[in-house]
Amino acid sequence: MAEAEKSWEKRLAGKPDELTVDFVESLSIDKRLFKYDIVGSIAHAQMLAEQKLITKDEFKQIKDGLIEISEEIAQGRFHFEKQYEDIHMAIEAALVAKTGQAGRKLHTGRSRNDQVATDIRLWMRDRIEILQAKITLLQKALVKSAGRYTEDIMPGYTHLQRAQPIVIASYILSFTEQFERDFTRLNNCCRLQNISPLGSGAVAGSTLPLDRKSTARQLGFSDISYNSIDAVSDRDFCAEFIFDCAMIATHLSRLAEDWIIYSSNEFGFVRIDDAYCTSSSMMPQKRNLDVAELIRGKTGRVYGTLIAMLTILKAQPSGYNRDLQEDKVHIFAAADTVEASLDMACAIISHSRFDTKSISACLDKGFLDATALAEYLVGRGIAFRQAHGIVGSLVSECEKHNKKLRELTLDELKQQSVVIEVDVYESLGVAKVAEKYITEGAAGPKQAKRQIEYWTKQLGQR
Ligand code: ARG
Repeated sequence: MAEAEKSWEKRLAGKPDELTVDFVESLSIDKRLFKYDIVGSIAHAQMLAEQKLITKDEFKQIKDGLIEISEEIAQGRFHFEKQYEDIHMAIEAALVAKTGQAGRKLHTGRSRNDQVATDIRLWMRDRIEILQAKITLLQKALVKSAGRYTEDIMPGYTHLQRAQPIVIASYILSFTEQFERDFTRLNNCCRLQNISPLGSGAVAGSTLPLDRKSTARQLGFSDISYNSIDAVSDRDFCAEFIFDCAMIATHLSRLAEDWIIYSSNEFGFVRIDDAYCTSSSMMPQKRNLDVAELIRGKTGRVYGTLIAMLTILKAQPSGYNRDLQEDKVHIFAAADTVEASLDMACAIISHSRFDTKSISACLDKGFLDATALAEYLVGRGIAFRQAHGIVGSLVSECEKHNKKLRELTLDELKQQSVVIEVDVYESLGVAKVAEKYITEGAAGPKQAKRQIEYWTKQLGQR
């Protein structure tokens, strides 16, 4: 690249210190933006030709040169030199080396400030699509798994204490709901960020007759930005993107946590295929859920990127500042980490089975039907607060004599409330209770089946 030059060579005396070169370079990180940089540059050059700022022939040379460079990079033949600081300068230098004068015209009316803001938005649009595809796959795996357990009861927990009976399907579907909101959040993020900053230049726009709508149209942006100062310095979409990733990581982490707890011997609810377990270097009997633990652990990394991104933005003066270069390492890490965790979570869900036998064997513990009994009393005209007290006394009674509520005789029940009749046994026992749930969205078999139908249709369209 003998002819390659750095555009500010004429402004600064001598060569930069090696330390400076290493410190300011972002090429090692942002080279993965190359595709977006190249399509952005081709669109910009085409617009320059349309506006007669360069000739058609110059545009052709630029376009062909950029396509060649793109192939060289994709095939690993491109020589990255950190003295060019970032992917934008590296590509431009290579283009000048290939095309000479035509290449020197590419940056007309453009700054790296609007260029990088454009590249990031193009990158993000793609990554949002990938994230959404992975979320959908996970949701489908959850719905498929839920379909196996629409009649099987498990304890529903609050405070990790047994609360009320639920069907396993409803439990599994609770995650489908969480990931659906993540999907929608990404839609919103995409809508806000899909705006072209190109043509905003360094901070003030340009005195050249650039057609900003042309580049926006070519690059598939839905609109252009309307304030050049904001356009080059705005990275709130990066913080928002990372937040969306962080929320996915949160949901994945909670799922992982449940799977870890539920597959312990103490619970024995879930069994994950060996392919997704690891063992111990010392204890030969061990079957560990390191994969789920890592999903949980990697959440920390994603949260870290969110705090980092917000901190980068917080005290910058108006306009572009080089601090902004630090955005990319964090958006990349957030996307990479969450994508890998989504893949893993999908594999785990697809290769897990609920041990319905061992779950049913323990359903008698914890008085899961107590709330339904209180609601039975409400049906017989008792105020809920009194019903709560009556059932509380019955539960204490049962605990003393080591009995379940449904093992109490009608006489024993009547001692606490005379309104109780023999039909009370219809409201006792976990399966009967779950069958009796009638509210929309409840965790019973009827509702679970309806939800599965809904999700199958909904996700089938994606
Ligand atoms: N590598 C820089 C970044 O990622 C590109 C913009 C640099 N602009 C400048 N005027 N120094 O933000």
